Amino acid sequence: MSVFITFEGPDGSGKTTHLKLLADWLRDQGYDVLETREPGGTAIGERVRAIVLDRASQEMEATTEILLFSAARAQHVGQIIRPHLSRGGVVLCDRYADSTLAYQGYGRGLDLPTLRVINAFATSGLRPALIVYLDVPAAEGLERRQRAKGGEWNRLDAETLAFHQRVRSGYLSLASEEPHRWAIINAARPTEVVQQEIRERVKKVLTAAS
Ligand code: TYD
Repeated sequence: MSVFITFEGPDGSGKTTHLKLLADWLRDQGYDVLETREPGGTAIGERVRAIVLDRASQEMEATTEILLFSAARAQHVGQIIRPHLSRGGVVLCDRYADSTLAYQGYGRGLDLPTLRVINAFATSGLRPALIVYLDVPAAEGLERRQRAKGGEWNRLDAETLAFHQRVRSGYLSLASEEPHRWAIINAARPTEVVQQEIRERVKKVLTAAS
């Protein structure tokens, strides 16, 4: 049974930790789970990632940024995600097309309808069955992030607090447009509580898909 689940959230919300815990839990139940991430996930995508996240890429235009994220995504969908789903596997992806709507759309102010067209083109229309959105206030996310990475920030992390606040409220608007597809999880709680809530929501999606 193939299921595509993505994780979204502000920087420092704990997506990576929760994705890993969920993957282990699903594997214990016999699912063939692929864990992957954006930008990246393929050799080509990782090279694009290095360019787009590099703090030295200061002069990058917002339009260049969106096309680079999308180029990495197109490669990822074609080379990795679709083939795994075709084999009947579960794909867990750390960030996906909704990051583009939140960061480049709400964060940078690029035109949302255009971004949706670009997303559809880059993904050949592939959308997740469930988006797990880990919600933490932007300031807390940045603080956690700084602690975790010892202050090593990428080009997007280094944006202003106001930018990260726009990203967060963007995610909440996106989720309110499609509540059946989004699980909004309050991630400012202990890991076990958050993970348990994620599993409950994933169980429902797995039941619906089987
Ligand atoms: P990463 O180090 O993977 O951060 P995180 O652990 O928060 O996922 O960096 C990815 C950064 O790229 C993150 O700040 C969000 C940003 N991003 C976009 O702006 N647009 C996109 O489409 C994607 C996939 C990521």
